[in-house]
Amino acid sequence: MKVLLTGGAGYIGSFVARELTARGHAVLVLDNLSTGRREAIPDTALDVADIRDGDAVMRSFARFRPDSLIHFAALKSPEESMSDPARYFEVNVSGTVNLLAAAARYGVERFVFSSSAAVYGTPQVCPVDETAPAGPQSPYGESKYLGERMIESQSATTGMRFACLRYFNAAGAATDGSLGEFAHEGSRQLVPQAVAVARGLLPRLQIFGADYPTSDGTAVRDYIHVEDLAEAHVRVTEGLDRPERSGTYNLGQGRGTSVLEVTGELRRISGAEIPMEFAARRAGDPAVSWADVGLVQRTFGWAARRDLQDILSSAWAWHTGVTAEA
Ligand SMILES: NC(=O)c1ccc[n+]([C@@H]2O[C@H](COP(=O)([O-])OP(=O)(O)OC[C@H]3O[C@@H](n4cnc5c(N)ncnc54)[C@H](O)[C@@H]3O)[C@@H](O)[C@H]2O)c1
Repeated sequence: MKVLLTGGAGYIGSFVARELTARGHAVLVLDNLSTGRREAIPDTALDVADIRDGDAVMRSFARFRPDSLIHFAALKSPEESMSDPARYFEVNVSGTVNLLAAAARYGVERFVFSSSAAVYGTPQVCPVDETAPAGPQSPYGESKYLGERMIESQSATTGMRFACLRYFNAAGAATDGSLGEFAHEGSRQLVPQAVAVARGLLPRLQIFGADYPTSDGTAVRDYIHVEDLAEAHVRVTEGLDRPERSGTYNLGQGRGTSVLEVTGELRRISGAEIPMEFAARRAGDPAVSWADVGLVQRTFGWAARRDLQDILSSAWAWHTGVTAEA
């Protein structure tokens, strides 16, 4: 395959670029390097461009002529999107429109989209499956849902095959310690924050909500190892040779883990204290969100192979530069 990756210099995209290359596929990354880094994809062709720039997008497609597109580039903080919705729609929706235009003009056969569990909002039932109603609770979630709708519509008219992948919480680093998540302004994910506290770089971990109706009162999420995600993207993109496989798929571990379970396991792996401070719940944060992953397994034969311990020991090793004891 010839695969164009938007946002391929970012956290998840760089793992997918590496996995695709290892599988012998040709890869071009299109990224504005706003949060992504050149050094995450040292051996991959890169066009530094913005997906909001329709002409620049067309130029990359004209030169590379991809048969497949994996679209990661986006702003990704639900919280931040509440205070600046227009910016989120501009990047996540207008940017996707530019990519759909280029995909149509250059006859892209497969379109794989980074969607999010944020599309569900507060799931009524967990594990949540893809038939659950959408109920995004932030402009970020709305932008992902709109992206899904636009891609599906284009597929219906052009026959382009597609997969909208609703990721749950991506975390972890390469098992060999060579690649991981770079902290950047606005990154508020639990695992990098908890690791930073365990390393003494932050004074304490803020936990939003200790009174949820869960076993320990903290929110429950589905953490998926970034290497599992990377393998899923390759499997799904390769497997989109059949039109009937087009659709929306959850990507998670298929297991719910509370915030305190994460910090407890990280304390065990690192041997470090993790001072915590409990704050009020954040608006729009569901108590529990974890995935039913049956559909992607049945359709593409993919399932996550790594667990919470793999996630946390690899993240700890990446951030501290040492291999943690499992
Ligand atoms: N990390 C998660 O847990 C998670 C969960 C659900 C969905 N997602 C989605 O997965 C995708 C990748 O997330 P990530 O965690 O790797 O984030 P990231 O910030 O590391 O990667 C995003 C990449 O897109 C690039 N980018 C941003 N705006 C751009 C623009 N206008 N033009 C060109 N490039 C641009 C950034 O430079 C970066 O390389 C996003 O679409 C995000 O919404 C992530």
